[in-house]
Parts: sequence; structure tokens; C-alpha cells
Amino acid sequence: MTVDMRSFLQQIKKTNDLFTVKKGVSTKYEIAAVTEKLDESKAALFENVKGSKFKLVSNLVGSRDRFAQAIGSKKSDINQKIVKAISSAKKPRISSTAKFFENSSKDISILPIVTHFQNESGPFITSSILYTRNQEKKSQNSSFHRLMPIGKNQFSIRMVEGRDLHRSFMFAKTHGQDLPVAITVGVHPAISIACAFQAKWGKNELEIANSLMNNKLTLAKCPSTGLLVPSTAEIVMEGKILRNKTHKEWMVEMLRTYDMPRPAPVIQIEKLYFRNNPIYHDILSGYTEARLLMGMPIEAKLNSIMKKKFPQTKQVILTSGGANWLHAVVQISKTR
Ligand SMILES: Cc1cc2nc3c(=O)[nH]c(=O)nc-3n(C[C@H](O)[C@H](O)[C@H](O)COP(=O)(O)O)c2cc1C
Repeated sequence: MTVDMRSFLQQIKKTNDLFTVKKGVSTKYEIAAVTEKLDESKAALFENVKGSKFKLVSNLVGSRDRFAQAIGSKKSDINQKIVKAISSAKKPRISSTAKFFENSSKDISILPIVTHFQNESGPFITSSILYTRNQEKKSQNSSFHRLMPIGKNQFSIRMVEGRDLHRSFMFAKTHGQDLPVAITVGVHPAISIACAFQAKWGKNELEIANSLMNNKLTLAKCPSTGLLVPSTAEIVMEGKILRNKTHKEWMVEMLRTYDMPRPAPVIQIEKLYFRNNPIYHDILSGYTEARLLMGMPIEAKLNSIMKKKFPQTKQVILTSGGANWLHAVVQISKTR
């Protein structure tokens, strides 16, 4: 099994699942337009992003086949593999080195952040995973949150109320504190799958990622926050969510409709690290990669619950017609 995003890219290149774009492309609409064309088909690697030294990958796990490849399972066994990974989650190893320390900057405008749709509030990082400390359970949490850049060292952050990061943020805020966070962009897709899973309060999703990766995940400590992040990440940022600042944002969500404008909290970034020859990851909101990442963990849970309660259940699928979220089809064995 591969352990980082770039070795996964090599793997899918061999199976002719990677479309390479050598021509210069703009982060404004062009990358999103090509990604939309490739929906449910190949992943795209943009080798020449205008105005940036980062390469960019999109539609990385934009099909069930690649989803299965990412976790080393057959397409028909994805759900079982996820359910097993949750029950056998195990602490990852900690490494004293990490390739992302190869380069650093204080300026987030060097990132090739994509503008996807005309009426969004701005460009967004959509593959950003945030790591924070759960102050009550003394564990770490990891979850996806979109980030919109504001100048050279701030982002607005969308945190759905009640999700784990929002609970930690509210805890910090009511104690008069900002919340330290680490952020990764460009991780192995098995890590993305685990971090899209709504694990129990206090449960560290990185342990589920480790199990999905056959215990091959290694973590590295961020120097300022002490938070642990996947050591093979392409890009890592450290900063804090400010307790007393907001900025209005909105974007297209999983149903391909615009979300309503809301004031969102703001992150102050202190440092940005990245690997040599860095690869940025973009996820096109509302399209298959985003929908599968959101829906597959729920589908796995549904399969496990339904099979226990109704043993005649063969499988449960969240359909693409229902945005992999709103519509489930249950296959059962005939009893007569
Ligand atoms: C591509 C993608 C983007 C997401 N963006 C957001 C977001 O902007 N805000 C948010 O609150 N949740 C977002 N989510 C959902 C959460 O990351 C997800 O529900 C996660 O499991 C929550 O983790 P928790 O159990 O630690 O709260 C996104 C998920 C995916 C897959």
C-alpha cells in the first residue's frame, strides 16, 4: 500500500487513472472546469499552474474504483474495510523528521488556491484538514473545513455548529482563548477518508487512518502548536482560530447549490511548510470526490447497522443521484 499522496499518484498513473495536463492553467475557473469534465473519471494532475510553483491534483478519489484502490480493498469490500478500520483503530508511529519541513514561508498567497464558481465569496482551499486538541478528552481531532484566504496570512473557516472542531473552538472562546490548529493539504486519500468520518467525541480519526493504511501512517510534531500531523503531507500550516474576529463567506455545497452568506471565524496563520516539488490538492465541491468523501463513511455505518438489525440486508448504497447523502438503496436477499 502507498503511504503518501505522490506515491498514490504514481500508482494510479500505472493503471491509466491519471490525466496529466501540461498546458498552463489558471486557478480562476480553468482548473474547476477541467475537473468538472473529468467527474467520475480520471484524476487530474496539473503540472503547470500559472503563477505558482506548486503542481495541483484534483478528482483524486473521484470514483468508487479509486476509493477502493486508496484503501487497498475491492470495490465491493469498501464498507467492510472502513467498519473494520474503525473498530481496530490503532495509534500511529511518531517520526522525528518530516519532508514538509524542507521549505517554509509566512505567505499563504504562494498556494494555488482555486476559484471554483463565479458567485462564491472567493477562492477556497477545499481539501484542508484541521487538527486540534480536544481540551475535555485530551485527545486530538481531525476534520475537513473549507478555508477562504484573506490577505497573506489569514483565512475564514467554515465550522458547522456542533461538529468537534466547533465544540473545541467554543470551549476556547468561552475560556477567553484563541484555538491553536494545524492544517494539512495534500495527504494520502486513506487519511482523507478517515478525517471525513464523524467519529465519536474524543476519538482520534488519525488512528482510523492508520488502520486503513495497514498501520503504516506516521505522524510528525508541529513545532509551534505541538499538534501531530501526517508526516508525509505535502503542505502543513500552523496558526490559531481567533476568538473575536469573523469574515463573511459562502460557497457551493454538496448539492451544487450556493450556501448562504454567514460570518465565519478567522484563522491567523503563523507558518506554512511544504515539501520540495510540492503538490496541492483541490476538491471540487458538489462533485463526486467531495460527495464520496462525505458519503462513504455514512454508507459504511449504514451497512453495519442494517446488516445487524436486518440480516437479509446484502448491501446499502448511497446513490450518486441523491448526492451520496440523501438517498439510500438497500439490496436484500429474497426469502421466498
Ligand atoms: C471535502 C469536504 C469538505 C468539508 N467541508 C466542511 C466545512 O467547510 N465545514 C464543516 O464543518 N465540515 C466540513 N466537512 C465535513 C466534516 O469534515 C466531516 O463531517 C467530519 O467528519 C467532521 O468531523 P468531526 O467528527 O471531528 O466533527 C467537509 C467534508 C469534506 C469531505
